[in-house]
Amino acid sequence: MCKKDNRKTETILAFDTYKDQHGSVVPPIYQNSLFTFDSWDQIDKAFDSKYENFIYSRLLNPTVKIVEDKIAAICHGEKAKLVSSGIAAVTSAIIHCVKANDHIVTIKNIYGPTNTFISTYLKNKFNITSTFIDGRDIENFKDAIQDNTSLIYLESPASLTYDLQDLKAVALLAKSKGIKTVIDNTWASPIFQKPLTLGIDIEVHSVSKYIGGHSDVVAGVIVSNKSIIDSIIGNEHELLGAKMAPFEGWLILRSLRTLPIRMKAHQDNGMKIAAYLESHSKVEKVFYPGLKSFPQYKLAQDQMSGSSGLLSFELKTKEIAKIKTVVNNLKLFKLGVSWGGHDSLVYAPVISYLKELTPDQFKGFGINPSILRLSIGLEHWEDLKDDLERVLAMI
Ligand SMILES: Cc1ncc(COP(=O)(O)O)c(C=O)c1O
Repeated sequence: MCKKDNRKTETILAFDTYKDQHGSVVPPIYQNSLFTFDSWDQIDKAFDSKYENFIYSRLLNPTVKIVEDKIAAICHGEKAKLVSSGIAAVTSAIIHCVKANDHIVTIKNIYGPTNTFISTYLKNKFNITSTFIDGRDIENFKDAIQDNTSLIYLESPASLTYDLQDLKAVALLAKSKGIKTVIDNTWASPIFQKPLTLGIDIEVHSVSKYIGGHSDVVAGVIVSNKSIIDSIIGNEHELLGAKMAPFEGWLILRSLRTLPIRMKAHQDNGMKIAAYLESHSKVEKVFYPGLKSFPQYKLAQDQMSGSSGLLSFELKTKEIAKIKTVVNNLKLFKLGVSWGGHDSLVYAPVISYLKELTPDQFKGFGINPSILRLSIGLEHWEDLKDDLERVLAMI
């Protein structure tokens, strides 16, 4: 694994120049599908290292490669592969680890489509069974492992309630049993959590969230050691074809330059809004790992170096009309799915979760209609607070 320290990596991000591109301060977009060669021997040689040479942009493109190398360095991984969505990163990494009739241990409140992929799709197509546990207790992992378990799939902090798993302990347990580990690290971003350094095998992100950060790209990334990433490129990536477009790669490169300072700003705003909501008389509970009241605060401090800007809060009222009043009257918080961009968003998870999940899957999330999710953007926090104050006074 690459041993670069954070500060150096982040400095490298800020001071890129591309000397072989006329010294241009940003690289060009290589908007081409294929690369041509001078001779039979030259293209024959290129095929000897098919995943390292530019032959066809479905597999490798110069603009996209620059971004992949940077993300690998930020994550302290050996290699990264950008794909066309976060869910493509999730499903490619999972398929890499399993075969028919295997078993997966995962946690109850993972991202909904990931839950459906594991619990329903893999079961129906390949008889891959799964056990969904409360991931806060390492004993639950030990109890759930079976002889045919080939993967422990993590999401820490997990969706909506942001429960953590002890990454070091899970990685140790998995290694002792020859089981692979994958984590969805989207909430913390690679700036605040480096799972590969804690022993996790594969890290995935929805780049559509913090890494992209401007609500203008849907993308995903898989990061690990070279042998795992090469295997994913040669199988799940080459054969399923969820490739990254050069222009989107270039937009992500733009985003990486500000990722450390954006994460700091999301954290500053997130902390302030979480503390404000926690002290509000109409709020029952705030779910945010950065708060001292968060039940796993110590673990959060141990395995993450910061908190992002995604939080949930539960209103005291259970009257749906009042909950709708809050959602419908916010002005700075736009109503929409996704998160992690410059723009603040509000969402009522119950809207889509009730439609997308079975009642059993929904129960696992431990949520109810009065839990709202906020993605805290880069606006001034006092404006965001005033917006919340105004709508909370209406109910
Ligand atoms: C935690 C998490 N992982 C993965 C995804 C999927 O990412 P994408 O929408 O980029 O496919 C999402 C999307 O909301 C998410 O919240």
